[in-house]
Amino acid sequence: MRKIDIFDTTLRDGEQAAGINLNTAEKLEIARQLERLGVTIIEAGFPASSPGDFEAVQRIANTVKNSSVTGLARTIMSDIDTSWEALKGAAQPHLHIFIATSPIHMNFKLKKTPDEVVEIAVEAVKHARKKFPLVQWSAEDAFRSDPEFLVRIVNKVIAAGATTINIPDTVGYATPIEYGALFKYLKENVTGIDKVKLSAHCHNDLGMATANTIAAIENGADQVEGTINGIGERAGNVALEEIAVALHIRKDIYGFETDINLQEIKRTSQLVSQLTGVVIQPNKAVVGKNAFAHESGIHQDGMLKNPETYEIITPELIGEKTVPLALGKHSGRHAFKDRAVTMGFELSEEKLNEAFVGFKQLADRKKEITEDDLFVLFTDQQIQNNDTPVYELKNIQVQYSTSNIPTATITAVTPAGAEVNKAATGSGSVEAIFNTLEELVQGKVHILDYRVTSIGKGRDALGEALVNLSYNGQVSTGRDVAQDVLEASAKAYLNAINRQLINADSREMNDVITTI
Ligand code: KIV
Ligand code: ZN
Repeated sequence: MRKIDIFDTTLRDGEQAAGINLNTAEKLEIARQLERLGVTIIEAGFPASSPGDFEAVQRIANTVKNSSVTGLARTIMSDIDTSWEALKGAAQPHLHIFIATSPIHMNFKLKKTPDEVVEIAVEAVKHARKKFPLVQWSAEDAFRSDPEFLVRIVNKVIAAGATTINIPDTVGYATPIEYGALFKYLKENVTGIDKVKLSAHCHNDLGMATANTIAAIENGADQVEGTINGIGERAGNVALEEIAVALHIRKDIYGFETDINLQEIKRTSQLVSQLTGVVIQPNKAVVGKNAFAHESGIHQDGMLKNPETYEIITPELIGEKTVPLALGKHSGRHAFKDRAVTMGFELSEEKLNEAFVGFKQLADRKKEITEDDLFVLFTDQQIQNNDTPVYELKNIQVQYSTSNIPTATITAVTPAGAEVNKAATGSGSVEAIFNTLEELVQGKVHILDYRVTSIGKGRDALGEALVNLSYNGQVSTGRDVAQDVLEASAKAYLNAINRQLINADSREMNDVITTI
């Protein structure tokens, strides 16, 4: 069977999506999980774009050892040198450089002639190879490029030392037949193409990213790039879990394999959704919460007689636990610790103790603590950042009745360490809370998106709130969980503000990314 390498760009292309902003601890947590999932390469970020991105890429490169770690760079010498500083500690330093090759990008964005683009690409690859043993070169907007020009530039960058050639469908415009044909054409016309890895990178604007990626594999791609849950710019990138499961379930016709540990899919998907705040659509292939639900009587009847009547993928295949054993208020520290280990968390004694305190508080209010609740508790501990002073909610009280103006009173500790009380009204409880918090954080806040969901099932399920806001012009998304949705909402709001304090350079990063 031909082995296909999986290149994960959740932390780079995925993180570029509107409203996502992960801090270093969160990125590291996702990277560790991607390593468990078995991806071949993790694109950890864009080191030259900001000090925050540099730090995250460096920490991931120094931590992850079973997957290669790469970073993105423009074809600019200083980008390449900065990336080397971030990546030199990696087990196998790998660089990803790109320049656009389509007429529209070369004329309007780069304002360069095709000859100039070839020269820039070649010089960048040569420079990168002085430091990096592995250099991937991407032709941005390759699919809308002139195929003959693509052959010419790919010939040159291979001669300059590129070890992987990536052919993105940057704007998600390709159809499977066309995208496959482009790979076949390059295979047949580029000198030395068999000495390098050929890679596919598909965006999902027309909903064809999975089909396009598989068409590329069938026509010679050795590597596929995508993100978990398909997050990414606009309609997103191809969802890697879909590729891995499709190749597994239909190996009878494809005959390709990957190193993906399918049992880790559910958990990876859950973690990415939790930390990015991007909710998975219920009917999403493979990881949606309804992906294994059978609602109609006819389907249920068939399933009872033989599950294969309607089920081509089992929940167990992707690591979904069928009987989640609940812990309760009488469960001791030992059982709690055991559960953390079985769930794959490696928490220090101190973090375990903190999580145990949270568990006991929750158990006082909730009869059964499910695997979903524990996942949130453990993950929150894992990504706790105690270094930067932030806002901390101490108490929240909301007065609401159908005939009076809702009022919120909040006690919080400011980053300067002062305990303050604020109160404000609003047309509803949530608006009263947000108005109070706006006074607390002393800035101009616009709420761009606000959502509340439940974690797990039952009337006592935890509530999760997500707040996407702009604070003095800078956008961030906060998320938090509490038994009460109003408390969760207040905490999510402060979490969005705190992210900006912790990641003070996130605006700089977004500015750079939008100019490439
Ligand atoms: O979609 C794209 O073209 C990219 C490149 C930077 C590889 O993400
Ligand atoms: Zn992309």
